[in-house]
Amino acid sequence: MTLPARLVVLISGEGTNLQAILDACRDAVLPARVTAVFSNRGSAPGLERARQAGVPAIAFPKPREMDRLAYDRSLAEAVLEYAPDWVVLAGWMRLLSMSFLSQFPGRVMNIHPALPGTFPGVEAIERAYQAWQAGKIDHSGVMVHLVPDEGIDSGPVLAQETVAFQPGDTLDHFTSRIHAVEHRLYVETLYRLIT
Ligand code: GAR
Repeated sequence: MTLPARLVVLISGEGTNLQAILDACRDAVLPARVTAVFSNRGSAPGLERARQAGVPAIAFPKPREMDRLAYDRSLAEAVLEYAPDWVVLAGWMRLLSMSFLSQFPGRVMNIHPALPGTFPGVEAIERAYQAWQAGKIDHSGVMVHLVPDEGIDSGPVLAQETVAFQPGDTLDHFTSRIHAVEHRLYVETLYRLIT
């Protein structure tokens, strides 16, 4: 029997994508184990989700006096202790430099709530919604991609799915549909990569 894949998940906030992955591991939908969850924000609610699932939940904020490269190096060292097959960015809102990424070549993935090449960075859902209201787009979507370098929400695409706007859509309704797609697509993509 093959061993379950080892995942280290990096978060900054709510951790609903983390929760989808934890649930899929618990229910044996995903032959994987989350070996640790790191957050750059100590107050991230996602850390509690990890604790509830019995997974080490590590707050790892950047000390003010530490520069970005040194922080990324120390984060990589800490993550390496949990021997991940995959480093899974799930709402991790800090740009990772090569001093982190070079430790995990081809093994860091990210989810972004927009289609490739659109709305990189923060508040992608809100910006897509505004673009729809301005008549510029009729759909947005979700993508999962590898993170080979310091590009923002860019890299080889592993999966993508379109989410259409609906007549009378509110930001809340659209956001819920995006998140529902994210939670399914991240688990499906991980499944495809590790089986
Ligand atoms: C998700 O929508 C994720 O795609 C997004 O942050 C949210 C985190 O939610 N990531 C980005 O915007 C990356 N640029 P969660 O903490 O509930 O999983």
